[in-house]
Order: sequence, then structure tokens, then C-alpha cells
Amino acid sequence: MDWGMSNRLSRMIKPKTGRSVMLAADHGYFMGPTRRLENPRKMLEPLLPYADTVAVTRGILRTSIDPRWDTPILLRVSGGASILKEDLSDEEITTSMKEAVRLNVSAVAISIFVGTNHEKQSLINLSKLVNEGEENGMPVMAITAVGKELEKRDAKYLSLSCRLAAEIGAHVVKTYYCENFRKVADGTPVPLVVAGGPKLDTELDVFNLVYNALQEGAVGVDMGRNIWQNDNPVAMIKAIRSIVHEKATVKEAQDVFLENKGKSAEKATIHGA
Ligand code: R5P
Repeated sequence: MDWGMSNRLSRMIKPKTGRSVMLAADHGYFMGPTRRLENPRKMLEPLLPYADTVAVTRGILRTSIDPRWDTPILLRVSGGASILKEDLSDEEITTSMKEAVRLNVSAVAISIFVGTNHEKQSLINLSKLVNEGEENGMPVMAITAVGKELEKRDAKYLSLSCRLAAEIGAHVVKTYYCENFRKVADGTPVPLVVAGGPKLDTELDVFNLVYNALQEGAVGVDMGRNIWQNDNPVAMIKAIRSIVHEKATVKEAQDVFLENKGKSAEKATIHGA
């Protein structure tokens, strides 16, 4: 792997553990001001010190993240549909590779929609992005989107989508956790991270999801709503970090959550200044 590509990837997936806690905050690109992410700067600042990467669009990056932060950026570069449309799969590449390089991001992210009306379009978008990524030393994350069809989150569908993404050349794949996730991981020869999906009922449900995904082959999470829609988002991300990087059990993660719950977030500082 080219040095630049390898360096960027190792900023996100930490070499010490081979794992990553990515904070997803790119929902606005089709969902608008998602609950609790209405003011991205306010929500993200206390969380950034605990994120190995933050996923945003260029608009939120420029308006809401101080360029002096050193948290690696995963730049969402696909879009073109909104939540008002029945079919969310009609996406194009919205942000150029030149812009991604100018913004000094660590990777770009694009959704693919396997089995939809725009399957071919989304797969060709991914292949173009990988071609440009290879030229520029920029890792590409493929996201196996399911649009509004959440029931598609099963091993048969996700293993197909993830494998297609890897075959086209995605360097990292984001998918959903599902029953028999091991089958998805075994068929995907690049690092896999899992999204959280809509907010789960309890913190324990989230910790179980993270723990099981890691046991079954994921290298980490790229999670949003189950962190920032929780009443204690900093406690949540700390607990998730303990599972991802410190091999904590679900019970130990729950203890980390309870220890940090209700504490006011420490004032986030740039480069510890
Ligand atoms: C959708 O907007 C994005 O791909 C999200 O980054 C992804 O769904 C992860 O966020 P969440 O954990 O909220 O599902």
C-alpha cells in the first residue's frame, strides 16, 4: 500500500489496537437537522477528544469543526437525495477528490445501494472514487446503505453488499451488525466497521452490539445516534472506547458508562492546550 494511503488509514484505525471508534455525524446530508445534532459544533466538541475519527460533510467540517483539531476526518462525499424521497438510492458524488485533499481529510465515504434501482450508479460512483483515491493516496470507505428498508439488515444481504464493495476496491467498509455477522466479516477482506442505526432502547443494547460485532470480526464502529442522542453522550463514547480499545466486557463498559454518567463534560481543548 502506498505510504500516504497507509498513513491516512493508520490515523483512523489505530495501529496499537488495530481498532477504531469513528463518530458518525454525517446524517444531515439527507436527514437535515437530525435530533440532537441540530447544532453540530455544540454536540461534537466535547466528543472529539474521544473519537478516533469524525465523519462529516464538507459543510459541517468548514462551519462546525475548528481546523486546529487533530481528530482525523472521514469526509462524506455522496449525496443528492433527501429523506422526503421514497427512494434514497439516487446518489452521486457531491465532493471532489481535490476538495478532500485540500481539506486534509483522512478518508472519503460513499454509500452504495445494492439491489435498488440505482445499484449500478452507486457501484460505478464507488469505482470512480476508488480510482481517484488510489491516485491521491486517499482511502475510500463504502457504506452499505439500506435506505428506509431497515429489514434488509441481514447476513445474506450485507455479505453481498460488503463483498461487492471490497471487490470494487473500497479500503474500509461500513455496514450494520446483524445475526450471523461472522459470515459478513469472513467474506469481506478489508476492515469492517459497524454503524449503530436508530437509537436502541438501552445502553446495554448498544454495548452488546459493539461487543458482539468486535467478537465476530469488526475492527470498530462508525456510530452516531446511539452516542449523541443519548442523554450522556460523553459517557457513551467513553464506554464504547473501553470495549473497542481496552477489550472491556459489556458489564465493564456499563460500569464505565455509570462512572461518567451525569458528569459535566470536561472542557475540550485543542491539542491539550
Ligand atoms: C448515515 O447518515 C450515515 O451513513 C451514518 O454515518 C451511519 O448510519 C452511522 O450512524 P448511526 O450510528 O447513527 O446509524
